[in-house]
Amino acid sequence: MNSEKPIILVVGARPNYMKIAPLYAELEARGVNQKLLDTGQHYDEEMSKVFFRDLGLPVPDISLGIGSDSHATQTARIMVEFEKICNKLDPQMVIVVGDVNSTLACTLVASKMNIRVAHVEAGLRSWDRKMPEEINRIVTDSLSDILFTPSIDGDQNLIKEGVPKEKIHFVGNIMIDSLFGILDKCEESEILRKLSLTDFEYGIVTMHRPSNVDNLGNFSSIVEALEHVGRICKLVFPMHPRTEKNARNMGLMVRIEQIPGIEIIGPQGYLDFMALMKSAKFVLTDSGGLQEEATVLKIPCITMRDNTERPITISEGTNRLVGSKKEEIINGIEELINEDYGDLSPPKYWDGQAASRIADIIVEEIE
Ligand code: UD1
Repeated sequence: MNSEKPIILVVGARPNYMKIAPLYAELEARGVNQKLLDTGQHYDEEMSKVFFRDLGLPVPDISLGIGSDSHATQTARIMVEFEKICNKLDPQMVIVVGDVNSTLACTLVASKMNIRVAHVEAGLRSWDRKMPEEINRIVTDSLSDILFTPSIDGDQNLIKEGVPKEKIHFVGNIMIDSLFGILDKCEESEILRKLSLTDFEYGIVTMHRPSNVDNLGNFSSIVEALEHVGRICKLVFPMHPRTEKNARNMGLMVRIEQIPGIEIIGPQGYLDFMALMKSAKFVLTDSGGLQEEATVLKIPCITMRDNTERPITISEGTNRLVGSKKEEIINGIEELINEDYGDLSPPKYWDGQAASRIADIIVEEIE
């Protein structure tokens, strides 16, 4: 099938690429007329381009080259440019994923132009409106015409918010499609050898949430926890640009660098990061996606947040919330570090087939 009017698939920031790649491949296999649009919210090689390569995504048909700015400016600039593209291409549907500013901006534009919006990863709620992503999720879901949920709590949240049942499709977690796709290739990564790491003898640290890295009190408390944990276990810390900038401005960078056994590296591509993750003893993070990946990989995940929009990673996975206080972080790591999750089965439909389910529904919905 190759319908005349295209559908546009939107990516913008790092956590989007692994959610679009499997869907792009499934739609391509079904002959759908699709255009890949990159807003350029993330622009550094390691935050963006390397993921296109690792995930087998083609060069985008359209690149908006927006870059970073304040939330309002970034969102507004994406909207202005995306509206021009919609006028030019006259798409019949826009597919957005996740909860970044690009997701919100393109949803707003499309829905005001009466173009149907499909949201992949719908229904997740942290119930914390201080998170920019929560605002993006709420607005995107309330405007979307087709809502694809990764877990059943997503359906429940949407129904409570009054979304008609027929708009909601429980299809599973598309990120896990990408994860299964890369796992066999991890052998090709040189990262463990380069960093002289031994399997299951190190922890991975990632953080970039404003609540942790824009707040001196929380950031300092996390650094104190790392100083303690560094004595127990080797740590690998792929540092997000926001985290690095703030660590330097707050005078914390030197302290982090001096932690014994810590390896600070830049943001990693998908292949190298998953190779690191697959053989890690635990992850200490404030990311959303890592909570899910750790659950499927059966690795303890200690999450430095007070809430999560992915509660199924706690009830059916390896995740524990510890907040940003030093003692809680240390206790969480000490309690979970040797936990054996060998018998755990992943949540329903976290099976590598989510993209195929989504593509079947999209094909039914388009002209
Ligand atoms: C964004 C998403 C967040 C996601 C995260 C993953 C929103 C609201 N937030 O947050 O949900 O978890 O991406 O990375 O959409 N920077 C670079 N190079 C880049 C991109 C950013 O140096 O390629 C710098 C920017 O200049 C800025 C900082 O990193 O100072 C933060 O980037 P920004 O795009 O504002 O948001 P993230 O914190 O990355």
